Parts: sequence; structure tokens; C-alpha cells
Amino acid sequence: MISYTKVFQATAFSSSSPKEVEILKEHLFCINADGLIEKVVGPEADDYKYLLDLYQGTENFHRLADGQYLLPGFIDLHVHAPQWAQSGTALDLPLYDWLNTYTFPLESRFSDIHFAKEIYEDVVATLLANGTTTALYFATIHKEASLLLAKICTEKGQRGLVGKVVMDDPEQTPENYRDADTQTALADTEDFILTVKELAKSVKQGVYPVITPRFIPSCTDEALKGLGELAAKYDTHIQSHCSESDWAHTYVQDRFNKNDAFALHDFGLLGDKSVMAHCNFLNDDDAELFANTGTAVSHCPISNAYFANSVIPIAHLHAKGVEIGLGSDISGGFSPSLFDNARQAVISSRMLDDGVNPSLPAEKRGVPNSRITINEAFYFATAGGGESLSLPIGRLAENYAWDVQIIDTTIASAKLPIYSTNEDLFDVFQKIMYLARPENIREVWVQGEKVHSRM
Ligand code: GUN
Ligand code: FE
Repeated sequence: MISYTKVFQATAFSSSSPKEVEILKEHLFCINADGLIEKVVGPEADDYKYLLDLYQGTENFHRLADGQYLLPGFIDLHVHAPQWAQSGTALDLPLYDWLNTYTFPLESRFSDIHFAKEIYEDVVATLLANGTTTALYFATIHKEASLLLAKICTEKGQRGLVGKVVMDDPEQTPENYRDADTQTALADTEDFILTVKELAKSVKQGVYPVITPRFIPSCTDEALKGLGELAAKYDTHIQSHCSESDWAHTYVQDRFNKNDAFALHDFGLLGDKSVMAHCNFLNDDDAELFANTGTAVSHCPISNAYFANSVIPIAHLHAKGVEIGLGSDISGGFSPSLFDNARQAVISSRMLDDGVNPSLPAEKRGVPNSRITINEAFYFATAGGGESLSLPIGRLAENYAWDVQIIDTTIASAKLPIYSTNEDLFDVFQKIMYLARPENIREVWVQGEKVHSRM
């Protein structure tokens, strides 16, 4: 006797490759007690009717209503949780000034655990309501508040990967927002790792500690080396900012006479579980190093437009074999929605493509083959994010976690322009990707559990 804990009957969209979206029409998704997709059954399969008869009418059976569709939950590969408090503000400043004038003063307030609680509860709930089922978070330098963020993720049911930020270099960090000293920064990080690993033992969807040097300018060599060693010792994920702005890129060149990628590699900070945000200035040698080490790029297209004034050649990096996922970079990027970021990824890539500015001579108009499609942006927000984190998430396929968003295209206040029950399903997919708003996200599930619903 088969006993799935849940069976969903739904039409779903999932990446089968970076360029192709698989349409799973009226499929059955059979979920087991671990919250994994154990079996995906199409209407043509022999056991489709048998399973339908077995589960239909039971409390374990969920049939999506007409006009509702399933997408994998989104995976946000770069969020500064404390910066939710300033989202949408001060984006006219360059990165260096923005950090020193707004961001470091804001983050320093997270020594106050009550303040941290208010912001962290909001940001996790907001991301879930926007369909983000997994998030790779920067917290702040404070160990207690960073632990609180990990705990809030577990309580709200989100899969959180959380980093206590390390900033120990007195040259580049303000006195009131800096680790006490290098040894304390490393000891706090090790404590943080052990506590989160303990917490993870009782959490179905997982919660993960992440080694988080903020970026090279904020860290001493000793801290970078110690963090590389801790990552190896505990086999943790690693995140940082890499080659983001002109200023940061030049700073690293001056200090190490090499680009961020090779400098990070020297400290043991690249690898299969490393995710580097931005990477606007990655050259082909850097990209090859990323591909060879399995290091992923977190592409933050909204933020890049502001702080790097740039469009990263994401199609080129992807063609070079670099793993890529999508990041909101709250609050360098103002939107908590990966729908918004997927749209911007496509729009930005088209602005880089050839044909840009027709008044220029042909060879100066742009970079051929730069554009990406909405299918690729969807891949980056889902399956690409899962591969970047080396976790079985981001696809509606067997042995993947049941992390999904139910999109309702019929919500009165946000109705999508679908006028026929026979509408081509790929058109429906594209309309969802371009037009869906938080109102359309009816339910969100993580690891087989419902974690958000909107009536
Ligand atoms: N570089 C160092 N810190 C930050 C940050 O908080 N946001 C962004 N976008 N870049 C950074
Ligand atoms: Fe960032």
C-alpha cells in the first residue's frame, strides 16, 4: 500500500534546462513524509488513474482550482536581511557612500535584539509572501541577532542559509560597526556555525550557517584566512561580495595585485558551496576559476543598475560554465521579489545586446549574444539557485523538496489577461513571469508544509 502524505493534482512549470521550461499538464505530485517529491505522474502513465482513485476525496489530496498553476519556490541567493528596514531609500549614492552613510549605521543597530526581531520577522514573512522559499542571508556582525534570524527562518518555515557577517579591518570599517578583533570575529563565527548546526537537527526544511566575509575591503588577511579554514573544517556554505563596483574592484587590485576571484581563492573561499554576489568585473580567467571550483554567481540585476551602473554579461558567464542564480540584494536592490529581479535580468541583458544605440557604428552598439530569455531568468531564480547551493531544490522533479508557489491568475485585484481555458500553456507561463504580483501568490509550501497563504 502506497502512502504519500500529500498528492497534488496541478499544471506546473519547471526548468528542464536553462533554456527550456517543462510544462507538466495535470500531473500528480506525490509527496512523502520527508517533504520530498517521491513521484511525478503524468495523465498518460499506467498508475495515474489508480493513484487518483486512491487519493481523491481524502484529506491528503489537493487539486488546484481552475486558473491556478504551480511554480517551484524561488531561491534568493543574496539578501541583506537587516537592510529591509531601508529598502527603497538612498539609492542615488555610490556604494562606498551608501555603505558608510546609511548601511553601516543601520546594521550597527542590530546589537539591539528587539529591533532585530521586528525587522527579521518582517523580512522573512515578506520574502515568503513573494514566493521565496529559500534565502541566502547576510545578517550583521552580531552573533545573537544572526542566530535570531536563523531561528525566525525555522519558525516561519523558510529554508534559511544565514551568515554572521565578518568585518574586522579598522581601515575600512567604522569603529562602532566592526568585530571587536580578528580572534573574536573568528570565535563568534565558529560559535555561530555550531549553534546553527545544532538548531538544524530539529528543522525539517534545513537551516544552514554560512561563512560570510562581507567583502575583501572589510576584512584583514588573517580573518579571510581563518574563515577559509572554518569553511573547510565545517564544510559550510560561503558567501561574499565579489568585484562589485569600480571602487571595490580597484581596492582589491591595489591590495593584492589581482582580482577578487583569485584573492578569494587564495584564502580558500571559492568552491562548490560558495556563492559570490554581483561579480560585475569578472574577466574570462576569473570566470574559468569560478567554473573550475564550482563557485556560483548571485546575479543581482536591480542592484547592479544602481551600484555598478552596469549590466553583467550573464549569458557570457553562463556559456563559460559558471553556475548562476538570482539575488534581490535587498536593499541595494529595492525589491523583495524575484519576479521583479527575473524581469530586470531579461531587460538588462537586452540593453547589453547588439543593436543598443543605433546611432553608433555597428561594432560599438553592444555585445552580441548577451540577451537572455524569460526561461533563463526563471531557471536562475529556481533550478540554477538550487545548483548554486548544491541542494535538491528548485525543480518540480522526483527527489526534490516540495518547495512551491501556487499562482492564482484569477485574483480580482491582480487578474492576469487569460481569456480562454485553452490558452497555450507556455503563454500562461510567460504571463505569470512578467505580470504576477504578490497578490497572485496564493500559497507557498516549503518541504511539504504550507508556510504562507493569502485568501
Ligand atoms: N559591498 C559590501 N557590503 C555591501 C552591501 O551591503 N551591499 C552591496 N550591494 N554591496 C556591498
Ligand atoms: Fe549585497
